[in-house]
Amino acid sequence: MADHLLAIDDIKEDFTDVLNWAIEFKRLWKTGDEIASNFMPLDGMAVGSIYEKPSTRTRVSFEVGINRLGGYPLTLLKNDIQLGKSETVSDTAQVLSRFLGAITYRCFSHDDVSELAKNSDVPVLNALSDKHHPCQAAADLMTVLEHFPEKEGLKVVWIGDGNNVLHDLMLACAMMGIDFHYAYPKGYAPDKEVVKRAEKLAQENGSEMVGTTDPSKAIKDANVVYTDAFISMGEEHMTDKLSDFDGFQVNMNLLEGASDDWKFMHCLPAHRGEEVTDEVMDHENSIVFDQAENRMWAQMSLLTYFVDNGAWHAMGDMMGIGY
Ligand code: CP
Ligand code: NVA
Repeated sequence: MADHLLAIDDIKEDFTDVLNWAIEFKRLWKTGDEIASNFMPLDGMAVGSIYEKPSTRTRVSFEVGINRLGGYPLTLLKNDIQLGKSETVSDTAQVLSRFLGAITYRCFSHDDVSELAKNSDVPVLNALSDKHHPCQAAADLMTVLEHFPEKEGLKVVWIGDGNNVLHDLMLACAMMGIDFHYAYPKGYAPDKEVVKRAEKLAQENGSEMVGTTDPSKAIKDANVVYTDAFISMGEEHMTDKLSDFDGFQVNMNLLEGASDDWKFMHCLPAHRGEEVTDEVMDHENSIVFDQAENRMWAQMSLLTYFVDNGAWHAMGDMMGIGY
């Protein structure tokens, strides 16, 4: 078992169980089951979340999820702490490990979250770096499985930038043996090393992993169509990028090529009118808000799993998750 979650393939052995745990725990909670509402694996534990970039979903879902697990969330915003000013990532990790049961970290450079993990005695969960967004991918695959419990023959398609969200989504689909096609404009391909990892996993799990620069080719018969902002956090100055994404907007015209049962996904925040139209965002086949909610349930499973005090397995046994 991995000590930290830097990228979603860190938990490749247990990924299916993490997702099933989250799906079943959510179901129990929503039916008012007391086993779920009395489940307090983080009782008395403080969990710190460092943010170098803004956040709505990640911050709120971690704060509420940690609370529901009996823990105490401590949100540490960049401007309020010494990290990045007078203190190194390594010293910060060693200090925080003395107080906290786990740390989540949203940063710019992926090297920073790796460095934090390397020097932390407690689990570190990557809450988005320039390279990976594993908590998002866990919620995404949880959402896919809720809407398509039969994953045989399923095709998930990405239309957009070769970014952090794509990286973990391609790894996650490959780990689940789900066919994954991705379309990106020339010059915006995903990271080669991540693609290699995903292709290897897809091969091991018997699924397709296909990249193209033609969105209409990728979207053919897609069950799930996913996009993200063309300009990510930290790239706000790169407005010229937008013109390179002509033809990559997910709109009703492009979706004509998808399967009749298509669902639309987006990690959010969405830039309506850029990567997606209002019509698609607000369509009955859009499941973006289920996805946003599932950030909390997936992260509750991940936190319980990484804190590793026996509670994740005990609750899993109770819920009949077979591991
Ligand atoms: N999807 C996501 O990570 O959203 P936030 O930036 O609001 O946390
Ligand atoms: N790719 C986006 C995801 C935001 C949740 C970014 O990094 O800004």
